[in-house]
Amino acid sequence: MLAVAWLASAGLTPVARAADISAGADSYDAHCADCHSLANPMRNKKGPGLFGVIGRTAGTVPGYAKYSDALKTANLRWTPDKLDAYITNSKATVPGTTMKFRGIRDAKERADLLEFLSTQK
Ligand code: HEC
Repeated sequence: MLAVAWLASAGLTPVARAADISAGADSYDAHCADCHSLANPMRNKKGPGLFGVIGRTAGTVPGYAKYSDALKTANLRWTPDKLDAYITNSKATVPGTTMKFRGIRDAKERADLLEFLSTQK
């Protein structure tokens, strides 16, 4: 730890700290859980269920009737990169999406959150 801190302070390591799944779970609870369930079998709330979202094609959760045309026709797969962009700035990533989310600025927090989501499958 100390060595890492020293290297970081010396500007020698651009490497991000390893993603932290439990911090990611906290972040999910704080930012996403009101609108999204991780239940399996899938359950939809204000937003579609997110169980197994990583790798899935956007706009395809069964029984979720409120998808925007934008998301249904986006023809994209939720890779970690795409999802990272979407939770940074949803409307810039999928113009016309109806997800109202102000975005998470902190890249480390997003990385933790994505790491956590990748365990939910
Ligand atoms: C205020 C409610 C709300 C919050 C908070 C919210 N979302 Fe959403 N989310 C939605 C809605 C509504 C949609 C459907 C958007 C559309 O159809 O354009 C959606 C869509 C999505 C999708 C696309 C799912 C699919 O099946 O294609 C993903 C992925 C997603 N949200 C992830 C997240 C994550 C991760 C967070 C937390 C960082 C979050 N959302 C926070 C309401 C929300």
